Amino acid sequence: MNFKLVTNSPALTETACVVLPVMQEGSLTFSGQALDKATESLVSQIIDRGDFKAKLGKTFLLAFAPGAGAQRILLVGMGKEDQLTDAKFRKASQAAYDHLAQLSLHDCLIALADTPLKNRDSSWKLRLLAEVAETSFYRFTEFKSQGSQEELPAELSFHWPENQDSSEGEKALQAGQAIGQGKNLARTLGNRPGNICTPVHLAETALELTGKDSAFTTSILDEEQMAELGMHSLLSVGKGSAQPSRLIVVEYKGAKNPDDKPHVLLGKGITFDTGGISLKPGEGMDEMKFDMCGAASVLGTLEAVRQIKPKINLVFMIAAAENMPSSTASKPGDIYTTLSGKTVEVLNTDAEGRLVLCDALTYAERYNPASVVDIATLTGACIIALGHQATGLLSNDDDLAAALLKAGQKAEDRAWQLPLWEEFQEQLDSNFADMQNIGGRPAGTITAACFLSRFAEKFRWAHLDIAGTAWHSGKQKGATGRPVGLLVHYLLDQEALGDQNSEATDSEQ
Ligand code: BES
Ligand code: MN
Ligand code: ZN
Repeated sequence: MNFKLVTNSPALTETACVVLPVMQEGSLTFSGQALDKATESLVSQIIDRGDFKAKLGKTFLLAFAPGAGAQRILLVGMGKEDQLTDAKFRKASQAAYDHLAQLSLHDCLIALADTPLKNRDSSWKLRLLAEVAETSFYRFTEFKSQGSQEELPAELSFHWPENQDSSEGEKALQAGQAIGQGKNLARTLGNRPGNICTPVHLAETALELTGKDSAFTTSILDEEQMAELGMHSLLSVGKGSAQPSRLIVVEYKGAKNPDDKPHVLLGKGITFDTGGISLKPGEGMDEMKFDMCGAASVLGTLEAVRQIKPKINLVFMIAAAENMPSSTASKPGDIYTTLSGKTVEVLNTDAEGRLVLCDALTYAERYNPASVVDIATLTGACIIALGHQATGLLSNDDDLAAALLKAGQKAEDRAWQLPLWEEFQEQLDSNFADMQNIGGRPAGTITAACFLSRFAEKFRWAHLDIAGTAWHSGKQKGATGRPVGLLVHYLLDQEALGDQNSEATDSEQ
């Protein structure tokens, strides 16, 4: 889909359909008024007659628009003006795009950037509109032999107020597209089945994404290299599988100073989780193809970074393996030495995410990171605790936790913090090794994070448990792309903080 910025009046612009916001009080935006005038009050008559009440997220198609440049007008209800929020604006734009998708039009003009929304400028609104356009028109048809039967718009134009700097508009459009495409990449990788999306497939995707761009350096560690280093915990998870494990590492240098400490994102990439010898029940096991959604969110964020090019240094890491039962698989009671030297008794082979992540966390020490955030579909217990709305957040650093919570709010991709108190650690005591990999039934999400925290003592670290938020089950089954929104906002906030700090030091000099 092609996006472009248009500064002409929406009343005159030629398009198959123009999308206009209507407040429940009946008021129109500036562009709406112009369009109303051009069409001899067609729009206001519909509203005055009560045919369209402009409730939030309702749409109304005017199939003819004599006098206007557009062939059709799609009215979108924004609800009451004084009650309009970011989330409602997102919902209304989503509804507009869903309606457009049914119309089989070639091109449309979106005139929503001048909707009155408290504390939000046109740039903010345009960024959101572009992002939601990308995600709304996303379809996963890779494995449908007939492809998609829908005709989605090939070109979307976005109206940008004439009196405002259009380079700001272009930037907002690009940022929105970058985030939307990042989310969509995460969804696509998540949706691909386990027989296609293997650890090697994730590695190839990272190489393809970064190949031609000199800001990135990608290394893929194979099993031999990991064994050489001593990553026996990570390797134990893939032992039962014919698919070889991989550690994927992408370094991105965007900061002015190449020696600035990087922020590290680490994704759990279990490309299928059968549970191993501690086999999962059969029902719904197909959904364990989504057990690499942490990895997918790291690659989705990488895609957005590739487009936005923030001025910070980053390291993207993925610990990828397939968890299968077989005669070569790990067994309950087996003990492995991790890269850190600490030993782990594997009492349940289904608690495998922490086993791959712990070695990757130790590996991250070599980057002397400014922060490390891991993202993982780690525990079923997180779904019990927080349902499907909030991502679980645990951290050894309150400032880092606060930054992630804030980023989640901004992105409407929220997380909620759980405690990481010392008292929970004893649930991991083992009679035979330094620790065991499960902590019993109570507080399963917390004890999983406790396990990880033992490998994150040397840096500021946070853990995002996305078991409940990474995909939808049921009729809407599919990956959500979460928490790419949270992560991109977090990174952009870190960039802004860096700018502030360097301004401070500049003025001190
Ligand atoms: N990938 C699962 C967690 C999961 C389960 C995410 C269901 C989403 C939906 C993870 O590897 C796992 O199996 N965890 C176990 C841990 C337990 C054995 C301590 C779990 O949650 O049951
Ligand atoms: Mn598991
Ligand atoms: Zn798992």
